[in-house]
Order: sequence, then C-alpha cells, then structure tokens
Amino acid sequence: MTPPPEIRALEFFSGIGAMHYGLQWAGVKGDVVASFDINPVANACYRHNFGIEPIQTLIETMTEKRLEGFGANAWFMSPPCQPYTRTGKQLDTTDPRAVGLLHLIRLLGTLTTPPTYLFLENVLNFESSQTRSLLTQQLSNRGYDFTEWFLTPTQMGLPNDRGRYYLTARRVREAGEDVGVPELRLVKEWPFGGAGVKRKTVGEFLEEDGEGELVRRYRLPEAFVKRRQAFSESAVVTADDVRTSCFTKAYGHHGLAAGSYLQTKGFDVNEPSTAIDRLGLRCFTPTEVARLHGFPIDDRAPAPPRPAAAVAERLAYKFEFPEEVTTIQRWRVLGNSMSVVVVGELMRCALFADHVV
Ligand SMILES: C[S@@+](CC[C@H](N)C(=O)[O-])C[C@H]1O[C@@H](n2cnc3c(N)ncnc32)[C@H](O)[C@@H]1O
Repeated sequence: MTPPPEIRALEFFSGIGAMHYGLQWAGVKGDVVASFDINPVANACYRHNFGIEPIQTLIETMTEKRLEGFGANAWFMSPPCQPYTRTGKQLDTTDPRAVGLLHLIRLLGTLTTPPTYLFLENVLNFESSQTRSLLTQQLSNRGYDFTEWFLTPTQMGLPNDRGRYYLTARRVREAGEDVGVPELRLVKEWPFGGAGVKRKTVGEFLEEDGEGELVRRYRLPEAFVKRRQAFSESAVVTADDVRTSCFTKAYGHHGLAAGSYLQTKGFDVNEPSTAIDRLGLRCFTPTEVARLHGFPIDDRAPAPPRPAAAVAERLAYKFEFPEEVTTIQRWRVLGNSMSVVVVGELMRCALFADHVV
C-alpha cells in the first residue's frame, strides 16, 4: 500500500500555534508550511517557537494564486468566535470579523487544488450559524466527508472545561451532490477510548510556590470581589479539583468570569471581600494555563501518546514565551488559543488516523 502523502498544512488565524502543536502531538508526518495572523504579539510567540515568520496580513486579502502556490494539502482554521458567541450580538455573516473565514469558504469553491484535509475550531453556537451552513454546503459540493464535534478537554482527563465546536473534513471525491445545507449531527462523546491522558487534578499543573511568591505576584485583584456576595461555583478551585472553567482572553485583568482562580489556603464561600488574603486567592500563572491547554511548556504539561515521541524529538516540540511578552499579553493569547490535547487527539484519532507514524 502506498503511504499517505506528508501533510503540508496552512494554519489560518494561527495565534500561538495550537493547531501546529496539535499536528506534532498527533505524531503525523508533515508540517505547517505557512501560517497567517494579524496579531504581532501572537506572531512573535509563533516565530520564537517554530522559527517560522507568520504572514501578518488580513486573510481576506490572500488570493487563490498565492494560496495554491504553497502546495498545501491541509487547511487549519480557528477564526474569531465573536460573530457567533452566545453572549455577543451574533451578527454571524454580517460581522466584519467573519470576513476572513467567509473568504476562505469562497476560495474552497474555486481553487483548482483544494486541500484534502480541513480542520476548523470555533465556539458552541457556530453550529447553528449561517456561516456553518455556507461552509458545510461548500464542503459537500466539493466532495468532502466531514464530522462535526463538540468536545472539551475534561473528556480527555484534563481539569479544564473548554467546550468547543470542531469540524474535521477530508476530500474523498472530485465533486459531491448539491444536497443543500447538510443536516447537523454533533458528536458530543469522545468515541476513541483512552485519550492519551489519564484523569488529572489541578494540583498536577501548578508551579512550585514554597515561599508564597506566586500568591503575592498573581494575587487576585481586589476589584474582582468588590460588592460580591459569594463566588460562583467554578470561580474558585483548589489543587484537588478536576475542573477549571474556560480561560478566556480577559483572564487575570477583567473580572471573575474569565476563568477559574486558585485557592491556596482554607475556604469560606460566604465572605468574598475578605477572602483574597485569608484564602490565598491567586490567578493561575500563564505557565499553569499553558499546561492546562496542553502546550509543551515543560514536563508538567500533558505529553503526547507514545508514537508521537519520535516525531516530537525531530520537530523540537516545545513552547516558550519570548521574554518581552507581558503577563497580561500571555493570558490574552492563551485565552484566544485552544486545547492542544483536544486538537492533537482529533488529528491523531480522526482526521489523520492513517498518517500517524
Ligand atoms: C480564535 S484566535 C485563534 C488562535 C490560535 N488558534 C491559537 O492557537 O492561538 C483568532 C486569531 O485570528 C487572528 N485574526 C482575526 N481576524 C483575522 C484576519 N482577518 N486575518 C488574519 N488574522 C486574523 C487574531 O489575531 C487571532 O490570533
């Protein structure tokens, strides 16, 4: 049997490269050949870790000819979620932040050599958007089979709740039938059994803090608890918990709802205003959030399953922030990013199952 061709991926909306790490996690032969993002801070992180300079341009300005020129056979896309989030205005296709993705959907219809593989991530609610209808209809017309997923890292044993919509697609025929908008069937359970990682507690992701330096440096901002009667259930977690709430780009500088905070001492839920020092409440450090996402920042981050090890070595699988990136910038780019473990496991078990070395 002829081995499948090496993956040559384009990573659109690349941020700090969770899709790129996912590919490495999966142990797939191949690499990202070009990445695209307009955020200079995220691009500095990407360059620092992968040695590739992301193309800092609006994706909607990329021409068919330029994209064909990369000779890519896979597209990774994690476009902005604001047009679809439940808490936003849900402007969908009329939101200016949807323009980049809509451009790529259009190009999928006209490219002479469309990618064989496609991987997309977005928030829950994307599945009921007009953008999803346009994307899945285009995929069907151009001969792709695809699966839509709603998954969270807790299903893979990680103490981090980050439910997201994923779509994995493979082109299996030259052209498909025009069946209108394909019916939605979201896969919500992880079907592949033991997903690389055993169930872990929050404690396994924490940095050492013998002298209490982290409690001082990452102390919960006073303003977050002012006028609060009590904490919501997921706002504060301890080292023994197996769940943290989703860390968003507002984490650490914009109120309590942007991710969990860590309680390092004894607890009384009914006294939020005096709680910070008595309970030793602090933010998770960027290193800890990176570990929870599965970025290979150090040995305490989850490791890919066995077959990936050889590939990982070859590809220098590591994640580090450039020194000049501030703490708030670190939280922001991590909050915008994705679970490397969920992406990597979807690539390893579903999208690229016959490519894993
Ligand atoms: C949801 S984040 C994806 C983050 C990425 N997956 C990661 O691992 O960090 C969306 C990213 O798309 C970038 N972006 C948004 N609109 C864009 C556009 N029109 N052209 C290029 N990049 C864009 C943002 O700067 C942001 O980094």
